[in-house]
Amino acid sequence: MSDKPQVCIVGGGMITQVQILPAIYHIQRMGIVGDISICALNSPPLKTLADDATLKKAFPGQNFTPYPSLDTDPEKRFPDLFKELIAKMPKRNIVVVAVPDHLHNTVIEAALENDQHICCVKPLVLKYSQAVKIEKQAYEKGLVIGVEYHKRFDDRVLMARRLYKQGRFGEFRLGQAALHECWYYRHSNFQNWCTCENSDVFAYIACHYTDQLTFITGLLPKYVSVYGIIEEYPNGNKGYLWTDGRVIFENGGVLNVQNALGYPDEGPGGNWQGIRMHFRGDDCGTMIVHNDQYRGVEHAYLKKGSDPGDTCYAEPSPDYLKYVNIGGGGLTPVGYGYRSIEYIMKSICKCIDAAEGLDEKKALAARQKLIRQFDDEAVMATPKNSSYNELVMEAGRLSILNDAREVEITYGENAGVDFRKY
Ligand SMILES: NC(=O)c1ccc[n+]([C@@H]2O[C@H](COP(=O)([O-])OP(=O)(O)OC[C@H]3O[C@@H](n4cnc5c(N)ncnc54)[C@H](O)[C@@H]3O)[C@@H](O)[C@H]2O)c1
Repeated sequence: MSDKPQVCIVGGGMITQVQILPAIYHIQRMGIVGDISICALNSPPLKTLADDATLKKAFPGQNFTPYPSLDTDPEKRFPDLFKELIAKMPKRNIVVVAVPDHLHNTVIEAALENDQHICCVKPLVLKYSQAVKIEKQAYEKGLVIGVEYHKRFDDRVLMARRLYKQGRFGEFRLGQAALHECWYYRHSNFQNWCTCENSDVFAYIACHYTDQLTFITGLLPKYVSVYGIIEEYPNGNKGYLWTDGRVIFENGGVLNVQNALGYPDEGPGGNWQGIRMHFRGDDCGTMIVHNDQYRGVEHAYLKKGSDPGDTCYAEPSPDYLKYVNIGGGGLTPVGYGYRSIEYIMKSICKCIDAAEGLDEKKALAARQKLIRQFDDEAVMATPKNSSYNELVMEAGRLSILNDAREVEITYGENAGVDFRKY
């Protein structure tokens, strides 16, 4: 057993396989974190992770402890096993929340109750009141929560943010963003949870771009309306699988965001995504345009791969997470998907180190000081500096369930959402 912070990942699905586990394995390899355990609802996703050929090749000799164990009857489900595991961890280690959106709050509650630092995939939670409660409880206990909005670690976003703050663009007026995931997602586990009653594709992916606009400009979202088209998944469940959202910001500027599980599987990239923002100066227009799928690399392979969405001709994006061979044995994950997890893990470790050797009172004060620093720097999303996203989430859900009626967000003491009054 290592003396480095242990990491317990709750949720062993797609995001764990393509981003969280490779990133944490690499962070473990660098000696920053210690043992890794992963808890899923049942054994099949854990088996997939344990057998993943790329992970084995990239991280030879590294592994995780699966809960339930890999030989458990695949049909048997363990919805509360994560609670037992978290309760058994020594205080102030790390829980990574990677379960479906509507389950985040329950896992976060268990982690906080047991004094664990948290890295949570976006969106933190689906309700603003939950985010406020989480923020308060975590601060009182001196626990770091990093919300994994990985696009914040895309260098083009950090460039735009820095230049915007220098006053290079003027005032935001109009924006258009899109993030369309592949059609084949409909055949994945999404069909079991991203259904009308739980979530929608606006909640699932638009938050990256609404967060990004605020991250760059500091403007808060004020009015939200989301039109969604309901379609059936292959298993018969129904989901809002195409959405068109309009977010009006506090200065009257407006962002239109379109999302779907509809990008052609035969398309050359893994998805379609990007944002354009138009601004005004005294007597001129300015703009920021990001082609976020980055169509600049073109490959044609001898044969197409065996994963869904693999094509012979491909335009792979080097940005989010890719493996490269830079020696040292295995492969190294690169991209903003990696950098984001590394930043959160290192922030948590900073907090653990800051309290080292101090008595309880001083240790808490040292941790709280760092938490406020993270909140104020607002590079890493925290419940305090990013809970406008929960308000957008709530507003979006209220709107989509009511035929795209416009919903107003109120900030301050009585923060909340309600239908806009005209
Ligand atoms: N771009 C992004 O930031 C991004 C991308 C993908 C997913 N995500 C987020 O990650 C989360 C998971 O998405 P995914 O695509 O990996 O989903 P998924 O459906 O592939 O996996 C969900 C996992 O959660 C596990 N799970 C469900 N209930 C559980 C329970 N009670 N205890 C333990 N494990 C349980 C399942 O076994 C499964 O392994 C979602 O919140 C999603 O919004 C974020």
